[in-house]
Amino acid sequence: MAELAGTSAQQISYKYIKVVPIAGALGAEIEGVDIASGVDDKTFDEIHRAWLENNIVYFRDQNLTPAQHVAFARRIGDIHPHLLNKGLENFPEIVEVRKTPTQKLNNGGRWHSDQMYTPKPAKGTMLYSRELPPVGGDTMFSNQYLAYDMVSEGLKKTLGGLKGVHNGDSRNHPSGLTRMERAKSGLGTIPQVDPGDAQIVSAHPLVRTHPETGRKALYVGSHTESIEGWSHAESEPLLNYLKEFTHRPEFTCRVRWTKGMLTFWDNRCTQHFAVNDYQGHQRIIHKIMIQGDTPF
Ligand SMILES: [Fe+2]
Repeated sequence: MAELAGTSAQQISYKYIKVVPIAGALGAEIEGVDIASGVDDKTFDEIHRAWLENNIVYFRDQNLTPAQHVAFARRIGDIHPHLLNKGLENFPEIVEVRKTPTQKLNNGGRWHSDQMYTPKPAKGTMLYSRELPPVGGDTMFSNQYLAYDMVSEGLKKTLGGLKGVHNGDSRNHPSGLTRMERAKSGLGTIPQVDPGDAQIVSAHPLVRTHPETGRKALYVGSHTESIEGWSHAESEPLLNYLKEFTHRPEFTCRVRWTKGMLTFWDNRCTQHFAVNDYQGHQRIIHKIMIQGDTPF
């Protein structure tokens, strides 16, 4: 890919892509990349670095087939299959998130990090927009490095020894139903599969260390039900505090989708929230997740 001229301080460190931050906390638009026509290794290395530095990046105006979407995700790592969502018939790596005009509940309408209830949660998630409402349906992100940095030294010490217990299929959902119950009643936006014996409840450190950057981040979300070794009643006040604290406005950015946009975030240091403000319209997103490691 051709070298791009840059002017900003951040741009100086990128030679093949343009990285435009969208908020003070996290998030950047990457310009100068056409994924469908191929991304060479030097450009890819810069994309990977921009992803680590900005935690969530996106590329507008991409024209991707499902096969190209899968191939680009595989450049980052192995695909993390969703244990409860059913993939597309021809592309089992891709989960289609389809909210129809008559459905009221959306997918991902709570602050969370993807797959935190599995033993090895997805390190990254790559969404591609295929159909969007005329307005709305944005996705919000929150920087969990910043959230960790901003808690007191005292609370940091306490959290340092604790694990959160995350449940992938609890009745804490706004509907009060499990995933299968939601799917059967027509409330779900994704076809579900029975996870069988797969582990969908896992305990991970509430403060995790990012394996690539070495930075510490809070690791909590809507799937977090208790603190390991604590009762639910004991866990609730601290977890409620953390769940509120971790998405303070100054930790967040908001991504406004356009059709054909590929958004790619790091689940190890962010939470996200799908805004459900487009009732009566259809929204179709293709989701691929990338395998991560055991959090430490
Ligand atoms: Fe999600």
